[in-house]
Amino acid sequence: MNILPDGRTPDEIMAMLRSFKAYDMDWRSGRVFAYVYQPDATTATVVNDAYVLYLSENCLDPTTFPSVAQLESDVVRMVAGLLQGDEHVAGNVTSGGTESILLAVKTARDWARAHRPQIAQPEMVLARTAHAAFHKAGHYLGVKPVVVEFDPATFEADIAAMRAAITENTILLVASAPCYSQGVIDPVPVIAALAQEHELLCHVDACVGGMYLPFLRAAGRAIPPFDFSVPGVTSISVDLHKYGYSAKGASVVLYRDRSLRRHQIFASTDTTAYTIINPTALSSRSAGPIAGAWAILHYLGATGYQEMAATVQAATERLIAGINAIDSLYVLGHPAMSMFSFASNAINVFQLADALRRRGWYLQPQFSTLRSPRNLHVSVTYGVAHNVDALLADIAASVEEVRQMPPIDPALVRSMVEALVQDRSPAVVEGLLAAVGLQPGALPQEMALINEVLDTLPDAAANEVLIDFFNQLY
Ligand SMILES: Cc1ncc(COP(=O)(O)O)c(C=O)c1O
Repeated sequence: MNILPDGRTPDEIMAMLRSFKAYDMDWRSGRVFAYVYQPDATTATVVNDAYVLYLSENCLDPTTFPSVAQLESDVVRMVAGLLQGDEHVAGNVTSGGTESILLAVKTARDWARAHRPQIAQPEMVLARTAHAAFHKAGHYLGVKPVVVEFDPATFEADIAAMRAAITENTILLVASAPCYSQGVIDPVPVIAALAQEHELLCHVDACVGGMYLPFLRAAGRAIPPFDFSVPGVTSISVDLHKYGYSAKGASVVLYRDRSLRRHQIFASTDTTAYTIINPTALSSRSAGPIAGAWAILHYLGATGYQEMAATVQAATERLIAGINAIDSLYVLGHPAMSMFSFASNAINVFQLADALRRRGWYLQPQFSTLRSPRNLHVSVTYGVAHNVDALLADIAASVEEVRQMPPIDPALVRSMVEALVQDRSPAVVEGLLAAVGLQPGALPQEMALINEVLDTLPDAAANEVLIDFFNQLY
């Protein structure tokens, strides 16, 4: 495609964009239990208006747009207060959970360079349930992720394994509050105490819990301590674009004090160009997400968030009880909030995900690990909470449908896995994708076979296949 010699009209452009969406999952249906965190229509308008008002303001230079710095500071202070931080807590608004985590790991690395200069190859210890953003941060920043397992009954990080994994190269321990995959909170006080004992940093990934658990607690629920009230917790990531219900591009990374946050900031006067001072990874960036976050925090207030969390939690509990009551399905671990996953001891859950997709629902397949079976992830959010009874009815019907279906041919899976292990040339990967009907621009309906193949492949090979796939996609 080339740039058109002459442009199109705004109406034509909007019509084209709307037509493209026909291929996408229709999250407005309230049937997509992942990816989108949608508040009610009025709240969404407040966010959108604020976002658009600040769309073109650039966070690059707070001296040019001081109001942007003020909005960011306000957002950081509100979130720090929610997480029981005192006036010493410092932080920034970032583009998302991944950036918050990247920055926390960079900060830990550079803190260690200053305070543990003898460490040449820094390591961070995290449970297998921790988010892949830590692996990405390790990959980008040269900090080795040392993965420990979890208790297969509770899905909490295995503390004895964590202790055993600490070496003279360890700089950081990680806890999730909760982990995305099963919605389980790690024993943060124990992990933070372990960090203190070894004079390490401790990051709590509260990307999903930070804007939700405090409101459950305020409503009288027993929520274990996970924030700055826990001695030894040195940084926290919290996403506003998840249960903060702000527009995408808004997360907060917080540090116990400024001496730690200092390691996050980059400055450069080394070029012929303008002075760079970047607290976050990006340089030029729209102030829209910050304004959207500021607006929703002011609009909903604590009461608004508490009411939304109560609605979502009630729906989650109905859904969990209903799933556990369906023959052969069971929820994994002890989910602390509104995300969880379930497995089956009788049917293939990848086929179940496809059957649900044919009925218009999206639940997210998750692969098996050494200690956990393959499962489907469910994120209950405000925009889908009203639909849990309809979902339950369709899960029950889909389980029966899958029982009647032929299982995925193990010989076919084996041959695909063997082909991919031996040869991942573009032709082989393309052949596999064509065989499962995956092509650019179309919404794949049947993912069970490809999920089966990816789940069977060793992790390293599966990662390579996924990279090859993306590299060929466009
Ligand atoms: C616990 C947790 N941490 C980090 C992330 C990464 O966040 P993002 O997708 O905003 O980069 C997620 C995303 O779901 C998450 O659930």
